[in-house]
Formats: sequence, C-alpha cells, structure tokens
Amino acid sequence: MSSQAEHDLTLIPGPIEFDDQVLNAMSHPTVAHTAKPFVSTFSQVLKSLRTLFFSKDPKAQAFVIAGSGTLGWDIVSSNLIEAGENALVLNTGYFSDSFADCLGVYGAKVDQLRAPIGDRPGLNEIEAALKSKNYKIITITHVDTSTGVLSDIKAISEVVHKVSPDTLVVVDGVCSVGVEEIRFDDWGLDFVLSASQKAIGAPAGLSISFASARALATVESRKTPVASYFASLLRWAPIMRAYESDKPAYFATPAVQNVYALHEALRQITSGGESAIVERFKVHQHASDRVKDTVEGLGLKLVAVRRDIAAHGMSAVYLPEGVQNTDLLPWFLKHKVVLAGGIHKEIATKYFRIGHMGVSVTNPSLGHLDKILTLLPEAIKSAKN
Ligand SMILES: Cc1ncc(COP(=O)(O)O)c(C=O)c1O
Repeated sequence: MSSQAEHDLTLIPGPIEFDDQVLNAMSHPTVAHTAKPFVSTFSQVLKSLRTLFFSKDPKAQAFVIAGSGTLGWDIVSSNLIEAGENALVLNTGYFSDSFADCLGVYGAKVDQLRAPIGDRPGLNEIEAALKSKNYKIITITHVDTSTGVLSDIKAISEVVHKVSPDTLVVVDGVCSVGVEEIRFDDWGLDFVLSASQKAIGAPAGLSISFASARALATVESRKTPVASYFASLLRWAPIMRAYESDKPAYFATPAVQNVYALHEALRQITSGGESAIVERFKVHQHASDRVKDTVEGLGLKLVAVRRDIAAHGMSAVYLPEGVQNTDLLPWFLKHKVVLAGGIHKEIATKYFRIGHMGVSVTNPSLGHLDKILTLLPEAIKSAKN
C-alpha cells in the first residue's frame, strides 16, 4: 500500500513511481545549504554514489548538480572535449542523436556509428572506427530510452582501452544507472552521466555524474577554458570534494530538497552494500523477462532486435498491425495507467514503451507489475477490435 494521493499509475521509462519514504524525504523544512545537517546528508549522497558505481578509487568523483539528464551532455561537451577535437558517438537511437547534437554545439567534430534501429554497433566496427582517427572521447548510450537497446559498455570499453587507450570512455547512463550493472573502475570508464528520475527513483531535478581521475585531469589540462560557467567541472569539483568530506562550500545553490529525496533513494539502493545492488539488478532482470515474455506471448515484437541486447528497466514494443498509439494509450489511461508512446523519429508512431524500474519492480506488494501484465492482453485485444 502507498500513502500517496490517488494518481494514475505511471509506468513510463522515467520519471518513475516514487517510494513513499523518498517522496516524504523531499518535504524537508528549509535548511541552509551550508548547514551541518545538510552537508552531512550531501556527503552521504556522494559516498553512496561510489557504492552504486562499485568504485573504490578515491580520485574518482561523484557530482550532483541541479539540472536534468541533459545537463550531463553539456558537462561532457564543455569539459572533456575542446572545439575541433573528435568525438565518436555510438548511436542506438534518439538520445544518441541528441548527445551528438550537444557535442556539436560546443564545437566537437562528431562522427556517429549508427546501428540499424533496434540494434547496436558491433565491436569490430567500433574497433575499426577507433583506429581510423584520434578520438578524444567515445560516447555510449547505455540504454537508449527510445529503442530500449542496451549497450555492452564493458566490452566496448575493453576495445577502446586496447586500440585507442587515450580516448575517454563516456557513458550516458540516464536510463541505466540503478538498474543495469556499471562497474566504473573495473571497466575502465571515465565519465557516466545520469539523472535522478529514472531507476534511481528520486524526483526529476538532479544531474548525477561520476568522473574518473583521468577525466578530471583532462579537464585540468585543457588548452582552452571550459566552455561553460554553470557546467564547469573545475568549479564543481572542489565543491563536491568539500561536501563529501563534510565541509560546506558554495558555487551555486544546490537543490536542497531534491538532495534529501535522492539521499533516501540511494540509501534504499546502497545500504545493503554491493551484494544488495547485484540482487537489485537481478530483480529487474526477472521483471523485464516477465514483461517481455508477456508481450512476445501476445505475438508482439520488441524494438530491440534480440533479447540479449534489450534493456532491463524498460521495454519498447512494436504495435500490432492495425493498432495505433491513439487507441492503445487512451485505453490504458481509462484504466488509470500511463504508458509512453514512441520517440524514435523514424518509428515514433509504430511502437509504445513500458517502464519497469524502481519501486514498481522492487516492491511487489504495490502490484504495479501485476497490473500491467494483466492489462496488456486485454488492451491489445480491445485495440484490435
Ligand atoms: C538515455 C537518455 N539520455 C538523456 C536523457 C535526457 O534526460 P533529461 O530528460 O532528464 O534531460 C534521457 C531522457 O529521457 C534519456 O533517456
């Protein structure tokens, strides 16, 4: 049971449903952003992000900055690469396109390695591309929320370290952090950007990222100034280090109440340590299998061309012949469930998306997953008639 006001069950690929305690944590009386209790809370948030990313490297650094996931693209584009330098974008959908656009805005020379819709670039192609030019960064959208395609960031990072070791490995983890495994140090990653409102399960409003010592050294040794004021890692790094070591610091006012909610969300995810995080991934994989088995059992096709490259926190599903989103989504709404339509430009009207992340998966007593699995067959039957 939830103590929240009655509302439509929102099973989109973020923002997701909240746990009651996360939502309640946000309703915190005002507190100075430099006051001891808040500093201590922020410190715990930054430390728990190290646990979430399985990172033991004291020189790596978490960043929590007011903003949405998109701010992470601006941070990467304005800090880790300079105008005129090369970026290789592995394109698995709409969000990879947008990341490429953002890099271009700051003057990076962007090459995109595009997979056919629902697929992902192969390791051989990636290796060949990396050998063709000096790339300052490679970007990988871990889960492209437009296609539900999961990239193998561990294998890609191995290729990068083998053939182009100076290239920084940058991951868009907006739709993966908290649901897909990310072993930051072991996999040799340099920057993962994310946001509060998806699998982490906190309200929208925080850009969350994790940077390697190598990424931070790259920013420090730029030939040109960081191309942003608010998004400057040079300005934020000392602030994050201070907060993490329980000292107040100021560059720009943090989103205090959002940080309280994030603190509770991360407490729930990380307080059981690494084994509990691994278990959380398994629970999401199991839930994802249930959803995907159900849709495939109904004769529907996933946008991801194979199950082993499909994300575990969401499913993108092609509509059956003759059924439109304008039939299906209002049907769900009548049953008080909100699903998402398509967003990939080339197939937007041909598919829909279901989010299955966070509390909707980890707290079965809420009945969210059961509800959607029961409604899906009815919805498809009704939309076909
Ligand atoms: C993979 C991915 N990257 C980036 C973003 C942008 O995040 P935001 O909408 O929080 O700015 C999204 C949003 O859904 C996303 O799914």
